[in-house]
Amino acid sequence: MSGVTAQPRQAPRIGVRLAGTGHCVPDGKITNADFEKLVETSDEWIVQRTGIHERRKCDMDKGESARTLCTKALKRALDDARMEASELDFIILGSVTGEMSCPATACRVGADVGAVGAGALDIIAACSSFVYGLNMAHDMIRSGAIRTAAVLGCDIMSEVMDYTDRGVSILFGDAAGAAIIKATDDTTRGIIASSLHADGSGWKDLYLPRRKRDLPEGVEVPPEKLGYLQMNGREVYKFAVTTFGRLIEETLEKAGIQASDVDQFVCHQSNARILESARTKFGIPESKLHVNIDRYGNCSGGSVPVVLDELRKSGKCQEGEIVLFVAFGGGLTWASSLWRI
Ligand code: UT7
Repeated sequence: MSGVTAQPRQAPRIGVRLAGTGHCVPDGKITNADFEKLVETSDEWIVQRTGIHERRKCDMDKGESARTLCTKALKRALDDARMEASELDFIILGSVTGEMSCPATACRVGADVGAVGAGALDIIAACSSFVYGLNMAHDMIRSGAIRTAAVLGCDIMSEVMDYTDRGVSILFGDAAGAAIIKATDDTTRGIIASSLHADGSGWKDLYLPRRKRDLPEGVEVPPEKLGYLQMNGREVYKFAVTTFGRLIEETLEKAGIQASDVDQFVCHQSNARILESARTKFGIPESKLHVNIDRYGNCSGGSVPVVLDELRKSGKCQEGEIVLFVAFGGGLTWASSLWRI
């Protein structure tokens, strides 16, 4: 398959290690019982089809936003790494719900934590954003261009949700997560194999129209509904199940290892049934594929880094272990990153 794929052809001269992680979710919750009052649905339907019981939702009146969640997540990651913000060389923030297109949310988050002068930019790869950012920041460190980076993934899906659309709104929640990665003399640490892929011809299955001209030909959306996420759930489901399996296979093959060699699969939490299909296909034990979609829903770009932080904080993801990050989403995009962390 074409795309950006990487496996070290010779021993790298610079290692990259995961130095710290953090996450932040808002306190506000929407439960399945809340949805039963909003639309024609049931707790049973939602749990059976998605595995979700509740999701988090920002309180905009209290000023919660992508920036405030990311700032908290990054401060927690810096504390975890026992680092000062001034030591950061670069901040890369993946989101489809950043505050503004100018300035990048990453710039303001950098200022909020005191990372003055660090390079900062936002990227958009929807649910794959964090894994895209992780691969890019890792390669900048390995090339010697920088020594320390913060990679953030965040989405405030409640800002782009039509809560009268039961086919979409029951799936998504708000969250932010951050990881700090650093250069190390231990050259066995860092990415073993990775990939970045996209197929823009599938964009119409998952998109966020801002204006009438953004709509696919023949699709009508009332003006007041522009700005809400549009999803063809069935098509995205089919894409996700197939891609998830292929992506894991492709990455393991490049690295020349088996699924049983991986200590943790850190996967995008799109739908519990999609995660379960991968677990069954590769014979992955439950202890190696963390699931939090029941508590947080699908948090798009925030999903993978939140899983990573929960794993690390519960001692299930230790230094030197083999970790496979996998994500897919709007674009359509899909990406993987196999690490010795
Ligand atoms: O992160 C990457 C982006 N997104 C995803 O990965 C999402 C992938 N897709 C999915 O997870 C699933 O497609 C959904 C959970 C969104 C929907 O589940 P589904 O089993 O694919 O349902 P469906 O869209 O095929 O709809 C089946 C039926 C329909 O009724 P009819 O036409 O059969 O009478 C829907 O109208 O279920 C109905 N339905 C609901 N019923 C109760 C759709 N949403 C709901 C609901 N409650 N919330």
